[in-house]
Amino acid sequence: MVKSKILITYFTLTGNTKAIAYKLREILNGKGFEVSVKSINEVEEDLKPWSYIILGFPVHAFKPPKKVLNALRRWSIKNKNFILFCTYALTGDRRALSIVETVIKAKGGKVLLSAGIKARSSFLIMLGLRAKFSVKDLEKFIRCILQVVSKK
Ligand SMILES: Cc1cc2nc3c(=O)[nH]c(=O)nc-3n(C[C@H](O)[C@H](O)[C@H](O)COP(=O)(O)O)c2cc1C
Repeated sequence: MVKSKILITYFTLTGNTKAIAYKLREILNGKGFEVSVKSINEVEEDLKPWSYIILGFPVHAFKPPKKVLNALRRWSIKNKNFILFCTYALTGDRRALSIVETVIKAKGGKVLLSAGIKARSSFLIMLGLRAKFSVKDLEKFIRCILQVVSKK
């Protein structure tokens, strides 16, 4: 049986989004999926090997970081299945996600799901606190992921 391959790719500045990416890998591996995690800079133009791409990024000034939009411009995403998440401290999650959704759809990609996950402010992490995110939000996101991805 050929299993669905999932790519989790992320941009992070202060570690929250990366921590979620690795936690997601652990959980999806445990559910029998084949999962790779890569930073957004490591992902080549060709996304063919993956059935699903989970893309995560922080909200920066109510928007996605430029690096995320640049990566989407670079990648061939026609007909690819995307699942999006952003991390945010206060607000702007829906707005940032909808900007990314629009770019993906304009290039012929599909967005199956998108979610905001509340996390500690980058500014507090820069002051020395550790990366931290809402486990409740992550659990809800995982339940939604399992509803939209198939094992084959
Ligand atoms: C430059 C900058 C701008 C930010 N703007 C927002 C914002 O508009 N809304 C918000 O809720 N959080 C904002 N944040 C907080 C981050 O989105 C949040 O802490 C996120 O989880 C950081 O993810 P990371 O640790 O993966 O970089 C901002 C952080 C930075 C560094």
